[in-house]
Amino acid sequence: MKRPQTERELQKGEAIGVIRASRFVRKCAHSHREINEGLILEIHREIFKDVWPEIAGKYRDENLEISKSKHLPPHHSKVSSLMNELGKELKQKLEELNIAEGIILDVVDNLNEKTFEEIEKVIRLSAWIHHKITHIHPFREGNGRTARLAGNFILERYGLVGISIKIEKENKNQYCNALAQVDKFEDYEPLVALISDGLIDRYHGVTMKHYN
Ligand SMILES: Nc1ncnc2c1ncn2[C@@H]1O[C@H](COP(=O)(O)OP(=O)(O)O)[C@@H](O)[C@H]1O
Ligand SMILES: [Mg+2]
Repeated sequence: MKRPQTERELQKGEAIGVIRASRFVRKCAHSHREINEGLILEIHREIFKDVWPEIAGKYRDENLEISKSKHLPPHHSKVSSLMNELGKELKQKLEELNIAEGIILDVVDNLNEKTFEEIEKVIRLSAWIHHKITHIHPFREGNGRTARLAGNFILERYGLVGISIKIEKENKNQYCNALAQVDKFEDYEPLVALISDGLIDRYHGVTMKHYN
């Protein structure tokens, strides 16, 4: 694909990039690939490699502000070490999750009360990585998209499905407030609720298909 020349072409190119990155995430989640710092960079690369190759899969080398947010992302010189730290913390959290019995929820028949606890752990890890990436804001652009796809990787890997968080109009405030709530108070509940709602939306579709 040739480099976009107009705003319209750029939007189209980015949309294609997000679709490509979502497919990449789904494919990796259903393979043996581990999610780590390298994979987060690859997700970003998949989004931007056509439209903005200079930033695709690379950490930012300038300082940014997030519009309408009180959170100031860390100085660009800190990004690489913070992402490295994220990778280590993630590895530890994944090991804890893997120990949990019955965490791969392939067999719907086996869903029981115990599994709901496991599902919650998966949702919490998805919320954690999602917020962590937006908080560090490691990229020049596309931090939200990369964070949401990394969150989806966790959901897909552990037997759930990827979701689409609504970020248009009034939903955008709710979403940004949910992220800010973690920044301010380490309170993940609003973000966990948004992810849970996204899952309910997806599974509602499944239910309708089966019972109609
Ligand atoms: N208070 C906040 N703290 C951390 N991240 C935030 C906050 N508010 C918004 N964000 C994140 O920043 C993203 C915008 O950053 P940006 O790099 O432009 O991502 P994208 O281009 O994918 O929208 C939002 O989509 C959201 O995920
Ligand atoms: Mg943006």
